[in-house]
Amino acid sequence: MSSAPAPASRTRSSGREAGAPLLRVTGAVKRFSGLTALDGVDLALAAGEVLGLIGPNGSGKTTLVNCVSGALRIDQGEIRLDGRDITRASRASRAKSGVARTFQNLKLFGELSVRENVLVGLNASSGATSLKDVEGLLRSLRLEEVAREVVSNLSYGTQRRVEIARALAGNPRVLLLDEPAAGLNDGETAELRELIDEIRSERGCGVLVIDHDMNLVLGISDRVQVLDEGTVIYEGEPQGAFKQQRVVTAYLGAE
Ligand SMILES: Nc1ncnc2c1ncn2[C@@H]1O[C@H](COP(=O)(O)OP(=O)(O)OP(=O)(O)O)[C@@H](O)[C@H]1O
Ligand SMILES: [Mg+2]
Repeated sequence: MSSAPAPASRTRSSGREAGAPLLRVTGAVKRFSGLTALDGVDLALAAGEVLGLIGPNGSGKTTLVNCVSGALRIDQGEIRLDGRDITRASRASRAKSGVARTFQNLKLFGELSVRENVLVGLNASSGATSLKDVEGLLRSLRLEEVAREVVSNLSYGTQRRVEIARALAGNPRVLLLDEPAAGLNDGETAELRELIDEIRSERGCGVLVIDHDMNLVLGISDRVQVLDEGTVIYEGEPQGAFKQQRVVTAYLGAE
């Protein structure tokens, strides 16, 4: 081991960084046999911030969410939550620490009721809301009237809201939304946009939003990052993204 002093921003005893963003991914590399899905990705997300993550199909967006949630382990790099190194933490431990997600392809318990699905989220996190709060959550997501219904009988748009409710039941600090608008109609997408705004302002969560609906992502995000073939090719103001030739080419080349 080197005897060099620890960097000033990091204390030796806890491994925490002072003034760190809520979530920080540094140099994340993820390989699947011969394919490099993430090739040195950096990402920082602050509390109360909405970060849009966009990029063509197969650019690595879901892989990044899987690596942050702990469904996959990165091969190189580091992931910190509130300055704490969670690179090797289990999925369950990350959930307990306040990392919650929704899935591109819905992963609800179809045979359970809406309320039961949301209660699953309640049990996943140590910072969870109380049973009473679950009723408030169901109300605020307009799920109160269908709370006893079996999820598989509900419309797709409603099921998407159940997924978000389940993620929120754990009272997360970081919320990862993987294509939350997929399959929603215009009205449902507008409602989703309001909901994300509320989650940011009232809960102070850091929200990472992946979606192919550019109106939604560019409209709701404080910042965006564009991924192409596992590399970040743009990071900055939402409106600046498509002024970059590299971003335009990445999208056109993907068609
Ligand atoms: N479990 C896996 N095993 C092997 N390859 C994978 C696996 N998961 C993802 N990939 C590959 O990694 C690359 C990135 O996939 P990923 O699903 O992260 O893309 P994406 O940006 O989410 O795309 P989309 O917009 O279509 O959802 C793709 O080439 C994909 O085929
Ligand atoms: Mg994806």
